[in-house]
Amino acid sequence: MRQPLPQWNAIYQGDCLEILRCWPDAFVDLIYIDPPFNTGQRRRLQSIKLGFGRQQRRGFGGKTYNYEIMSDISYADNMPFDAYLEFLYQRIQEGWRILKPTGSFFLHVDPRIVHYARLILDDIFGADHFINEIIWAYDYGGRPRDRFPWKHDNILWYTKSEVWTFNLDEVERIPYMAPELVGPEKAARGKLPTDVWWITIVPTNSKERTGYPTQKPEKLLERIIRAASRPGDLVVDYFAGSGTTGAVAQRLGRRWILVDNHSAAISIMQQRLGCLALPNVTSVI
Ligand SMILES: C[S@@+](CC[C@H](N)C(=O)[O-])C[C@H]1O[C@@H](n2cnc3c(N)ncnc32)[C@H](O)[C@@H]1O
Repeated sequence: MRQPLPQWNAIYQGDCLEILRCWPDAFVDLIYIDPPFNTGQRRRLQSIKLGFGRQQRRGFGGKTYNYEIMSDISYADNMPFDAYLEFLYQRIQEGWRILKPTGSFFLHVDPRIVHYARLILDDIFGADHFINEIIWAYDYGGRPRDRFPWKHDNILWYTKSEVWTFNLDEVERIPYMAPELVGPEKAARGKLPTDVWWITIVPTNSKERTGYPTQKPEKLLERIIRAASRPGDLVVDYFAGSGTTGAVAQRLGRRWILVDNHSAAISIMQQRLGCLALPNVTSVI
């Protein structure tokens, strides 16, 4: 029996595998997913207000401050490794199934698992359908003293067939590293980015910040969505977190569907997207 199309501009709550299995084949233009990286820890973000509350922390110069926890959001990211690979495999396979033949799939991972992810994607999409490994480089956080710090994530782009969307002219140009070598006209126009993208993480004090752990910057999603989809296309993110993909898709005139199994993610997405559209929230479990 043919399954009905899900609503678009909608947020679905539940395990993405169960939700995707209810959807028909081949109706999505672009999928971006940023699943948990299996870091072995809980991913956690607390936002605190200094100068209030009964809890205390020691700060610069040994001074003690009172603080109050305003929000505390976390999710588990610690599966046994084999189970994690199986978890990814099943969910990527469903992603492949719901993509149109002209569709693109972007998988966001980190350097610890990117080689396993490549093998999974080669198996499901075919090695010939590998388009790019985008290196998202940033500079934030601690610096170990026994190696070069890990300061990039890996975004793997695969297509379902030999036909796909790439809007070269939609991609934001960036400054030349040595503008004096290319002449004033070219320098003013800038150059197209390569597969290494320097984009800052979401700054603590930015308007974009939602308080959700592992929130990705809108600028990163903007480059992907502009390049690999057209206005009116359907963009799906089934590990949606704070809803960055939906917020950018909406702003760029694409349709979107977001899925997450965490209730904190769902309420942040409702708030974030409620200002832009009227999201329907469908609770599956
Ligand atoms: C790395 S975060 C995504 C962050 C997102 N890209 C953003 O910009 O906010 C991964 C998300 O996957 C969700 N998740 C984990 N397992 C899931 C599952 N089985 N089904 C749906 N969502 C899941 C987590 O709740 C978390 O919100």
